[in-house]
Amino acid sequence: MVSVAVLGAAGGIGQSLSLLLKLNQAISRLSLYDIVGIPGVATDISHINTNSAVEYHIGQAQLDAALRGIDIVVIPAGVPRKPGMTRDDLFNINASIIRELIEAVADHCPSALLAIISNPVNSTVPIAAEVLKARGVYDPRRLFGVTTLDVVRAARFVRDIRPNIDTSVYIPVVGGHSGNTIVPLLSLAEPQLDLAQEEIEDLVHRIQYGGDEVVKAKNGAGSATLSMAYAAARFIESLIQSFESDSIIVEPALVDLAADTQGAKQIKTLGADGLAFFAVPVVLGKVGIKRIAPLRGEPSLLERKGIEIAAAALKVNIDKGITYVIKKS
Ligand code: NAD
Ligand code: LMR
Repeated sequence: MVSVAVLGAAGGIGQSLSLLLKLNQAISRLSLYDIVGIPGVATDISHINTNSAVEYHIGQAQLDAALRGIDIVVIPAGVPRKPGMTRDDLFNINASIIRELIEAVADHCPSALLAIISNPVNSTVPIAAEVLKARGVYDPRRLFGVTTLDVVRAARFVRDIRPNIDTSVYIPVVGGHSGNTIVPLLSLAEPQLDLAQEEIEDLVHRIQYGGDEVVKAKNGAGSATLSMAYAAARFIESLIQSFESDSIIVEPALVDLAADTQGAKQIKTLGADGLAFFAVPVVLGKVGIKRIAPLRGEPSLLERKGIEIAAAALKVNIDKGITYVIKKS
């Protein structure tokens, strides 16, 4: 049985994600934390007759109680985009939120697995790593930027143009989580896809800018929450399964490549050399990342070019996150 804390649990993602986690019978303790609105959300969810005991904690003074004894911390705390904004425009507000929350994680549950949803993921994950390093409790195998939504979208968007394809089609997506740092590897889809060049280009663009589709449709009321909650619940379920079974469970995530230096070699030769963090499929194990899953085949020329473009943009985002922590300390 596993204990999970959701930080930012009263928000758009937080509420739906907490509901989905309440349905997960492997969770025994569900700790819901926010700075506002959490008593109502938690009390409501706590009436569902599944295994987990639900508790709530409100405000920074209760963060320690929210985190003590927790196995998995998932963080959707922070502001979402409005039309016209990039994820990087969220940096100033969300960087300080992540720093504060990760400092508390370092103090109260340093061995927990950490899943960061808050944008810009390309920078908030390096921020988390730096904060944990500064507190002397960093283990790169335990830190994940949640990029599951990119593979969820890839599988669904292919189905939109090929209705006969099963939705379990697997399309690896590597790089980062924003615009051109998102690199779908359609040529390595399993099962293989038969797509015309124009379809490939349209699909790549749609997967890269799927988030913008939702931001535009919500028209100022935020970004993806329901599909994100689904994606995060799937990711947390995989983490939990990896605690409890020896079967091979693979999920994508933005990770510190130091988690598996051997496995990172293949990724680096594809054009990601010089990058500390990259979104890759990882094999999950009892302590987090067991290894980086090798790509099954060579990406196409177009995809290799995409990786190079992504790497340059990602480097800027990573450096910004690292510098933020170093400057503040
Ligand atoms: P939201 O505004 O609906 O909810 C955010 C919640 O965070 C609110 O309840 C707020 O009170 C809480 N919060 C703010 N400061 C906090 C703090 N210091 N401690 C704890 N909680 C705090 O936003 P949302 O739509 O749920 O989105 C949350 C974040 O997730 C955004 O940054 C968004 O860009 C990101 N996001 C990421 C992905 C992804 O694929 N990784 C997908 C969708 C959204
Ligand atoms: C997404 O991909 O939906 C999220 O990163 C939210 C956003 O800002 O687009």
